[in-house]
Amino acid sequence: MNLNESDPAVQLKLRLLERAMPARDAVVFGDMWGVEGAYCVRCLDLGCESVTLVDVAESDGWLETRRAHPSLNQYKGDFSDPLFMASIRETYEVGVAYDVLLHQATLLHALHLMLEKVSERVCIVQPMLVEQEHPNTLVFLPGNSAREELDPLAGDHEEWLMFDQLLVNSAAWLWAMTPSFLVSALRSEGFELDEEERLDGGFPNPRWTWWGCVARRERALHPEHWSHHEKVRELWPTAHGP
Ligand SMILES: C[S@@+](CC[C@H](N)C(=O)[O-])C[C@H]1O[C@@H](n2cnc3c(N)ncnc32)[C@H](O)[C@@H]1O
Repeated sequence: MNLNESDPAVQLKLRLLERAMPARDAVVFGDMWGVEGAYCVRCLDLGCESVTLVDVAESDGWLETRRAHPSLNQYKGDFSDPLFMASIRETYEVGVAYDVLLHQATLLHALHLMLEKVSERVCIVQPMLVEQEHPNTLVFLPGNSAREELDPLAGDHEEWLMFDQLLVNSAAWLWAMTPSFLVSALRSEGFELDEEERLDGGFPNPRWTWWGCVARRERALHPEHWSHHEKVRELWPTAHGP
């Protein structure tokens, strides 16, 4: 499937992908709905020797593309599922996450599982809430009563599930996150921003923009990162404990 390169959001995604390249290999998280693996193919065009897609879905068009490009691979499954992700043994020089984090109920855990597979650089582009009074604002949309202020599409979203607290899954738009939130979440995973870019005017609601970044792996996880379960300090050290 061809990308609509006249769309400014697609242009932003391609621009940042080019900045993250060259790379030997890449993993693209969620590249099926509406694009059928087009960003994976673009990674090959930009010089990757092999590219892996991780997505729950596949399509006839994507299977044809894979037949034409044997260096494309897919692991079909849920990248927020730790057991599925443990079955992927490889790491990849570049990771790509375009329009996927908004849909992850286990947001920090899913981001961690994705970044564990990325050795050098990650490219992220998605709709973002503009910075709020407090930095690092993250808003859970399902059940949110400030619907008029928060709806990125100003009510015009037949195809998007949003605001329904009974439908919390990866088909729904779950989060309104500010860039500062994502930058902090990336830092907690050992990644620092190399560049970022914001595109205003892409949504009926001016509180939303497109935002993207390329971030590089800068340091190992802190020994007391939450994923090191056995090493995280006791919540109540014995001396002060109950
Ligand atoms: C909104 S589309 C984005 C498509 C493309 N990356 C783009 O930028 O246009 C989200 C894609 O991610 C996939 N996806 C979302 N959450 C997922 C998860 N937890 N595990 C696997 N695939 C997921 C969906 O199946 C879909 O193909």
